[in-house]
Amino acid sequence: MKSPFVLGSLLLPLVSQAVTASSSPGDVVGKVVAGYQGWFSVKQDTNDPNHAWTHWGDGTTNSVGVEVWPDVREYANTYQWDVNATLGNGKNATLYDAYDTQTVDVHFTWMKKYGIDVAAVQRFGTNVINPNTKDHVNGVAQKAQAAAEKHGVKFYIMWDISGWTNFTTDLPTDFLNNVKNFTSSPAYAKQNGKPVVNVWGLGLIDRPGTPDQAMTVINFLKDQGLYVILGVPTLWLTQADSKLTGFLPVFTAADMISPWTVGRYNGTDGAAAYQVQLKYDLAYCKEHGIDYQPVVFPGMAWSNWTPGALKNMIPRLHGEFLWQQFVNLRKLGIPNAYIAMFDEYNEGTAIAKAAEDSSMIPTNQYFLTLDADGVHVSSDFYLRVAGDGGRLMKHQIPVTKKVPTSYK
Ligand SMILES: *[C@@H]1O[C@H](CO)[C@@H](O)[C@H](O)[C@H]1NC(C)=O
Ligand SMILES: *[C@@H]1O[C@H](CO)[C@@H](O)[C@H](O)[C@H]1NC(C)=O
Ligand SMILES: *[C@@H]1O[C@H](CO)[C@@H](O)[C@H](O)[C@H]1NC(C)=O
Ligand SMILES: *[C@@H]1O[C@H](CO)[C@@H](O)[C@H](O)[C@H]1NC(C)=O
Ligand SMILES: *[C@@H]1O[C@H](CO)[C@@H](O)[C@H](O)[C@H]1NC(C)=O
Repeated sequence: MKSPFVLGSLLLPLVSQAVTASSSPGDVVGKVVAGYQGWFSVKQDTNDPNHAWTHWGDGTTNSVGVEVWPDVREYANTYQWDVNATLGNGKNATLYDAYDTQTVDVHFTWMKKYGIDVAAVQRFGTNVINPNTKDHVNGVAQKAQAAAEKHGVKFYIMWDISGWTNFTTDLPTDFLNNVKNFTSSPAYAKQNGKPVVNVWGLGLIDRPGTPDQAMTVINFLKDQGLYVILGVPTLWLTQADSKLTGFLPVFTAADMISPWTVGRYNGTDGAAAYQVQLKYDLAYCKEHGIDYQPVVFPGMAWSNWTPGALKNMIPRLHGEFLWQQFVNLRKLGIPNAYIAMFDEYNEGTAIAKAAEDSSMIPTNQYFLTLDADGVHVSSDFYLRVAGDGGRLMKHQIPVTKKVPTSYK
């Protein structure tokens, strides 16, 4: 959790009535994007250059990193988690390695099937500069490119600057040495004729960088002919949760703004009330010719990762919570969405297939299952809600009060 949701800005007047149109539809405008972590490693998978337990926990019940347990039935290769663990259904408890080519292929098959237009492939700077993880990061991106090309899904690279103290120099180097080549793929997302990148974390209180440093990096990326999305603090516009007031010109230099919202509201009423903030952000973006990509999420919890955190902290409410966020976009005429995230099992925001009930999780450990809020839904339910949300946003289906997606 980065900081509590603050209502301060909601009282300010809308900035302007004179609005400019946003960009025409492209690979991100008018599209549903899902963040793609691809960061799980399993020690037993020696093909993964980082063959150590990473992000799942340490491979035993002593240390568990994920809140939501994946449904692994479609992966060709999975590996035993905790020597003695079995699932409620008696099967061995096994997990996947995100570097596995078949695993990545399955993920992009799901994106195509369920209507996720674009994968924002994550690139944590701290992993890029770490010799133990950089080959994993580059390999997953290459596999994502191949799977995106094969299945007709788009992808773009999204840096996360968390802990990346030297990002001002390292990010441009990483672009030229590693990222630039991806942009020549036919599956690489383009907007306004330019390859898309996202830099996430500028201006957040606990992330590195001054406004000048941030501007240097943005200018570099724009000079490279890129369409630059910035992942910014929730209250970027009023600076209430960004560290320095000097960041507004930095944010305004972006082609698209995507404020982080995970953990910032809960319940269908809380999600509906967030429309006020969306409207306020949207007015500024339109006035300054910036595209606006809200972040939506299915629910959130991270009690297995963060000691003392609430179980089922932000309940999914069998899809009603995510649905309400798409209703907001439709009502405000915002044609862009970023789903946080495709495979974020750690914070419990994954929309990818997950354990439905106690039969699909290890018997010796707590995990949040999809039936937690009293309705049994299929393991692909949140992929289907995401697809319906995209159709709602694109005016292909009507607004309904309740999520229209069938539970099975
Ligand atoms: C697995 O089970 C065996 C037999 O009950 C026990 O001796 C062993 O300590 C267990 N291993 C772990 C890692 O829990
Ligand atoms: C399940 O795990 C046990 C203990 O690690 C192993 O002996 C057995 O072969 C596994 N079963 C399957 C179907 O993989
Ligand atoms: C950052 O750059 C400085 C100067 O080049 C270098 O001494 C330092 O090791 C770098 N830090 C990291 C984490 O790469
Ligand atoms: C660069 O990208 C092209 C097109 O996707 C690909 O064919 C080529 O192998 C890549 N080169 C390197 C060095 O990765
Ligand atoms: C849910 O939202 C309410 C109202 O904003 C807030 O008071 C509460 O702390 C939130 N709960 C969580 C777990 O974020």
